[in-house]
Amino acid sequence: MNRPLLQLALDNTSLASALASLEGVDEVVDIIECGTILIGAEGAKVIKTIRDIYPNKLLVADFKIADSGNVMGGLMLEGKPDFLTVICAAHINTMKAVKDEIEKRDLKTEVQIELYGNWTFEEVRKWKEIGINQVILHHSRDIKGGWSKEEIDIARKLCEEGMKVTVTGSIGYEDIDLFKDLPIYCIICGRSIRDAKDPKDEALKMKKKLEDLWL
Ligand code: 5RP
Repeated sequence: MNRPLLQLALDNTSLASALASLEGVDEVVDIIECGTILIGAEGAKVIKTIRDIYPNKLLVADFKIADSGNVMGGLMLEGKPDFLTVICAAHINTMKAVKDEIEKRDLKTEVQIELYGNWTFEEVRKWKEIGINQVILHHSRDIKGGWSKEEIDIARKLCEEGMKVTVTGSIGYEDIDLFKDLPIYCIICGRSIRDAKDPKDEALKMKKKLEDLWL
C-alpha cells in the first residue's frame, strides 16, 4: 500500500504568515494547500503567488466552492492549482461548471469534493459518473474531540467505493495511527505542523511515521 501523501494546510490569515509557515516545511511536505482561511484573507490571487514561488510542487486551492462554479472556479484556476475543492452541498451543475473551466483552460486540475455534514454514497457515485474521483473527508475543527470510529468506518467505505480519499481536520502525529489500515491518498495537517515548536521537525516526524506505517 502506498503511503499517504502529506499536505500542509496554510490556514494563515496573511500571506506573510503563510510564507513563514512554509519555511523549511516546504521541502518536507508533498502538497501545499492554500487554505480556505488564507484565500478568504488574501483573495484568490494568493494561489498564483504561491504557485509562482513553487512551480513544481503539488498545490491545492481549498476554497470549498459552493456555487457559481464558472466564476469561482475561474478565479481559483488563475493560479493553476493541481487540485481544487468543491463542497459536497454544491449542486452537481456547479461541479460540472468547475470541470468545464478546467477543460477550457486545458489544465489537469482535479476536483476534490469536500465532505461535511449531509451527503450520501449515492451522490458519491453520481460524482464519479461525471469524472470526479477524489473526496476529502473532513472532521470539522469546530467538533470537540477527535475522529470517531464512525468517521474512520466512513473513510474505509469511501476507499472501498474506489475513491481517492483524503482526510483532514485536527490530525496530529498521534492521530495518524487511526488510518493505518486504509489506502488513504493524502493526510492534511494544518495547525499540528504550523503551530509546532519546530514545524520542519514535526513534518519530518509525520512523514517518517507515514513511511513506517504504510510499508
Ligand atoms: C479548514 C480546513 C483545514 O485546512 C483542515 O481542517 C486542516 O486544518 P487543521 O489540521 O488545522 O485542523 O480545510 O477549512
